[in-house]
Amino acid sequence: MCGIVGYVGKDKCVSKIIHGLEALEYRGYDSAGIAIFNKGKVDTFKEQGRIENLKKRIDLEAESHLGIGHTRWATHGEANKINAHPHTQGKFTIVHNGIIENYIELKQDLLKNGYVFLSETDTEVMAALLDFVYKEEKDVLKTIQKSCKMIRGSFALGILFHDNEDTLYATRLSSPLIVASGEEGNFIASDVPAILEFTNKYYLLDDLDIAVLKNESVTIYNQYNEVLKKELLTFEGNMEAGQKQGFEHFMLKEIHEQDNVFYETIHSYFDGSIDSLKQNFPDLSNFKKIDIVACGSAYHTGLVAKSLIEEYAVMPVNVEVASEYRYKQSFYDNNTLVILVSQSGETADTLAALRKAKTDGITTLAIVNVVGSSIAREADHVIYIKAGIEIAVATTKAYLAQLAIFSLLTIYFAYQRKLLKDEQINKIYEDIKKMPNLIRQIVDNQEYFMIGDKVFQHQNIFFIGRDIDYALSMEGSLKLKEISYINSVAYQAGELKHGTISLIEEDTPVIALSTKDELREKTISNIKEVKARGAKVIYVTTEMPKEKFYDEIILIPRVHPILQSILVIIPLQLISYKVAKNKDCDIDKPRNLAKSVTVE
Ligand code: M6R
Repeated sequence: MCGIVGYVGKDKCVSKIIHGLEALEYRGYDSAGIAIFNKGKVDTFKEQGRIENLKKRIDLEAESHLGIGHTRWATHGEANKINAHPHTQGKFTIVHNGIIENYIELKQDLLKNGYVFLSETDTEVMAALLDFVYKEEKDVLKTIQKSCKMIRGSFALGILFHDNEDTLYATRLSSPLIVASGEEGNFIASDVPAILEFTNKYYLLDDLDIAVLKNESVTIYNQYNEVLKKELLTFEGNMEAGQKQGFEHFMLKEIHEQDNVFYETIHSYFDGSIDSLKQNFPDLSNFKKIDIVACGSAYHTGLVAKSLIEEYAVMPVNVEVASEYRYKQSFYDNNTLVILVSQSGETADTLAALRKAKTDGITTLAIVNVVGSSIAREADHVIYIKAGIEIAVATTKAYLAQLAIFSLLTIYFAYQRKLLKDEQINKIYEDIKKMPNLIRQIVDNQEYFMIGDKVFQHQNIFFIGRDIDYALSMEGSLKLKEISYINSVAYQAGELKHGTISLIEEDTPVIALSTKDELREKTISNIKEVKARGAKVIYVTTEMPKEKFYDEIILIPRVHPILQSILVIIPLQLISYKVAKNKDCDIDKPRNLAKSVTVE
């Protein structure tokens, strides 16, 4: 949530910061702002809404070589110009990502000490706290260290101290922030896309590290004031990852990348032999129970995994939404493995669930996209998906890559428990080899867009399915509602008649999934129940039915059931995309959302 960029160097800073903010706009787009040193003073510019609005009102060529910028996803206070970052109090101007939980207590103390607040934000309180502590400490580093220890919550901060016109400060706790270094100067950023135009070299900050950036130097201190020797990392992806490359939206581009993403993800770990999995995955042979914990689409991949692992490896799998899991009684034991799934690796609730499991002494495995993210770093084991940078707020390729990893984990667990033999694994591998072509065929199929055209004017759309098809329905439904704002519900096909079927009216679209042979007859009966009540049924299946109980059919090529979901989800992604496009929605940046949810 929220994107931070800062720059200090020999070049003028404004256009670089704006460029970085544009690359981070997927993290929040309620308002944007920038603060720069200009002839001995700090100038701040803010606008409500998109970065575009800010860009129109500032001088991109302003004579300044040091500044910070921010694109906001509002937490404290309305999304207006006053609440937009940066915020200034006394000698400090800051940008902030995260939440300061005890800001009310702090604010009351600061009010007593004469501070006046213009905004409703927790960030302005942080700026005042820094200023207040500085009056006593008279040293910026000590001030940042002391202030950070006085707050509860999470933060990534870019800080300008008004008396040091050549220095940019940054620190973090449980919110992402990198420090990048290149020939053109030094940067801070919430995420790599912000800096890729200028450099691919960066440092990761650990919690409470403080980075001090000058024109030609970066010094990183830990919370005890010791200078750290950090490894300068190289981002392996390319710049194109952050560009649309001729596609109208990032979401469509990312859907089109899925054949490669599948290939890269699978072949990073598996060459058809169980030995390759043994070599590339951690040893998981001792575990007898699994908890999968995640949010949103990542949670939905956990539901697919539950169905697969329980069926093929006969291991109990408990799947929970991280925001619930973190506050609940857990029933794990020494044989439980907790798997955290997260594209960003920064989702606050998933990170908290990971920390809870670790505190309880339970082994954790993270399935993550962003290399070096907090969840990846803190888990006992990590398996990276190979989705590359995902920009669209609605995830597609990362979801598919998570499914690919769960397919491999299913094979791995089932083999370890002697429930899959080499010959069966060979057969699955034969299908794996066909998958990139099949994915490409589905992605290129324009017929799914026609289904989008048929349903986009409806107010309610249902997704139904049983077992794994229900898990996929959940994702289909989320995809549709988050980008098209159509109310959509996913329901277990057999459960509908216990109440929800009353919502079915003449012409209500029902997208019915049936890819599991054993359950097909049952699902078809449920489809007939909604059809009898006037529903327009879009039937998604792997087998052409002998009778016509549907209005439209999507026939998906049949592959091994461990891989099947990966193909089934793609038409649902494409239908949602087309519905949102027909409704003229802002597909890559849906209202009220942000890509990376680093607040609770
Ligand atoms: O980065 P994460 O995978 O942890 O994010 C989890 C959810 O916030 C995310 O999947 C969200 O539901 C997406 N908007 C879905 O498209």
